[in-house]
Amino acid sequence: MKRADNRRRVTERNRRAPHSARMETLVESYLRAVGIGGCQDRNVFRERLRKKHGPIAERVAAAISAREEGEDVDVYVLKNHTLALTIDVTSQYCGQMYTEFLRWFLRGRFAQPKTLLDVGCDNGILTCFYASLYPEAEVVGVDKCEQGIACALELAGRLNLRNVRFAVRDLQSLEGVFPDQSFDLIVSTTVFQEVLRVPEHLPERGGWSIDAMEIELEDPDSVQVVADLVRLLHSEAGVWVSMERWLDASSLAWWIRLINEAGLGVIADQSTLLKFRSWDGEQETLPILVATRHRHPSVGSGERMLAYRMYCSLAENQERTVGSKGPSRNLRRRNMAT
Ligand SMILES: C[S@@+](CC[C@H](N)C(=O)[O-])C[C@H]1O[C@@H](n2cnc3c(N)ncnc32)[C@H](O)[C@@H]1O
Repeated sequence: MKRADNRRRVTERNRRAPHSARMETLVESYLRAVGIGGCQDRNVFRERLRKKHGPIAERVAAAISAREEGEDVDVYVLKNHTLALTIDVTSQYCGQMYTEFLRWFLRGRFAQPKTLLDVGCDNGILTCFYASLYPEAEVVGVDKCEQGIACALELAGRLNLRNVRFAVRDLQSLEGVFPDQSFDLIVSTTVFQEVLRVPEHLPERGGWSIDAMEIELEDPDSVQVVADLVRLLHSEAGVWVSMERWLDASSLAWWIRLINEAGLGVIADQSTLLKFRSWDGEQETLPILVATRHRHPSVGSGERMLAYRMYCSLAENQERTVGSKGPSRNLRRRNMAT
């Protein structure tokens, strides 16, 4: 009996291993084909960028530095100046995040969508991945940055993708957009931190409290933005995958509340915390939520657990970096330049 169990386990492991290896190769070969590799030492990167792209590279570097210092600078218009430039910048700042996110995405084995919407798609690198992964699906990418959309169109042409289209759209005014369409899968990655403002008065900001889950949603604009997006989700089978740059448990709890308010439940056992090494060598943790209209048994308690795990993970990061470089920068990180 025991031996039969062992054999079953080994067969199962063998059945799975080639699949996961194939999946990883899929991610890596796609990213390589686009030109996304690893990141380099910051100074080496800037020097190479300057040599390859000329004066615009200096302006991108200055904008990124200003953003690192907390200034509200629009990096996207600059870094999406050409497709080659945006690919190099994305490679430096997002290569590792993309690799880990796409690996997770493939492991999630979402039902094959007929329609997929990537919101805040920027230069379309992830959107084009979804389009090549699901050749039968109609894939749409939207972003408010015209230059980003121009790069995305060029990339789709270069990859010969016929099932993807892109449009300039602002997520703050989605009402009436796509009036006759709904999407089976909506994906958002590191976008809403720029669209919504996390309230300053969240309880125990940066810490953890069960009260954080009981936040009053006082900002009607944020509620509206999320509700308008959820309206585009297919009423029955629609799934929203969101990986946002919420950097503490309270912000994540607030985000979960917004999603709940729009009528979705977060499936806690499919949601996770993605950990990866960021461009500056620090470990970063971003929450990925999988949400649907179906009220799942784990909704509620599972969501609390997720926010709590987020808190623990960030505390762990912080502990690791205190002493060497001071408190983790994770709590004050921003989107750099995807
Ligand atoms: C950090 S980038 C993320 C891009 C891409 N999703 C990724 O994961 O690499 C954020 C994107 O959100 C877009 N964005 C910010 N505010 C927006 C809004 N109100 N409407 C549409 N797009 C917006 C920016 O133009 C930018 O392309």
